[in-house]
Amino acid sequence: MSSEKFDTVDIIRTKRDRGTLTPEQIDWTIDAYTRGAIADEQMAALNMAILLNGMDREEISRWTAAMIASGERMDFSALGKPTADKHSTGGVGDKITLPLAPLVAVFGVAVPQLSGRGLGHTGGTLDKLEAIPGWRADLSNAEMMAQLADVGAVICAAGAGLAPADKKLYALRDVTGTVEAIPLIASSIMSKKIAEGTGSLVLDVKVGSGAFMKNEDDARELARTMVTLGKDAGVNTVALLTNMATPLGLTAGNAIEVEESVEVLAGGGPADVVELTVALAREMLTAAGRPDADPEAALKDGRAMDVWRRMILAQGGDPDAQLPAARESETILAPADGVLAGLDALAVGVAAWRLGAGRARKEDAVQAGAGVRLHAKPGDTVKAGTPLMTLLTDTPEKFERAREALAGAVTVSPAPAAAAPLIIDRIS
Ligand code: URA
Repeated sequence: MSSEKFDTVDIIRTKRDRGTLTPEQIDWTIDAYTRGAIADEQMAALNMAILLNGMDREEISRWTAAMIASGERMDFSALGKPTADKHSTGGVGDKITLPLAPLVAVFGVAVPQLSGRGLGHTGGTLDKLEAIPGWRADLSNAEMMAQLADVGAVICAAGAGLAPADKKLYALRDVTGTVEAIPLIASSIMSKKIAEGTGSLVLDVKVGSGAFMKNEDDARELARTMVTLGKDAGVNTVALLTNMATPLGLTAGNAIEVEESVEVLAGGGPADVVELTVALAREMLTAAGRPDADPEAALKDGRAMDVWRRMILAQGGDPDAQLPAARESETILAPADGVLAGLDALAVGVAAWRLGAGRARKEDAVQAGAGVRLHAKPGDTVKAGTPLMTLLTDTPEKFERAREALAGAVTVSPAPAAAAPLIIDRIS
């Protein structure tokens, strides 16, 4: 006779039959799974029932609270400064955290940016920064606090103590086709952000082929669910819905995305990366009580670059070091004269991943120099036979599969089309 409080099969049947789980059932489920009393195949069945039948607001809130309770909670109150963090649901060429964290820190707001490594076609912030010689992602909590007090911004790996239930659950979802469930994504992201202890949080919820959420309705529902969870937990939370139909900026990879971020910090860089960095910085600064700060000026006058350099140095990196470059390259040419009407984000993300910028299994290494460099963006005029993209890798046998990923990704039309807005909506 089991001494467990609930029967896992009853819980799975309840969700399968569109029932509602009680708070006690949810607390027990998360705890029992974390300690191994619920088997992976049972949790996989429950996740699939949640993906198909959903959860109500109380269930999502309790599920999130139970995941927070599975680990430690951080506390930045000793810093004596407001704190703000940003989370992106993941996209192609999304290097915004790199210029954003130092930019917000310029104004006396501490930015504890706990980040992850990439899996699949969306790159991970830590993989990008690890292209910088010497840079170290793993910091102790004491090192992180010291850097926040001194530099004001830190981008580092989330420690194992933060929402351990989510780590186990996310790995299972990844291999059972249950990542794309709104209650599970919202609780996964928000449990980590609430446990991290930030005072304010700005969510960048991506919509389009390169994102988890392919359409606006789903993205809006995810954003609303996360904003509600954040506010209910006392975190000042807002979300922007942003376009991920095409990659952000002109680079998708690791070292090449660092290079582009440094261009933005030097007051230049692609217009879309600058627009989103500034918009997210304004949201973070307003949420943290600094509504009059001018982030655009801090990019232009070098203040954000100064914080970037200190942030990289504090984690052992050399901000002046030459970044690794791929050994081999191949160019893809524009197929016709006209206006580039579409450049599919997912295709570019998969190509960069296949070239070696991303990993298929979490223990794989990434190539720092691999990726895709774009020479044109939707709306630009192109000429048949001129370079459209450069594929970069150390391992030339990867070119063929990367080219396959890009088949059908490019649309050239004779006349200009209306540009899609980068920032689609704001949810607060
Ligand atoms: N990122 C997370 O941290 N969790 C998810 O479920 C999806 C994206």
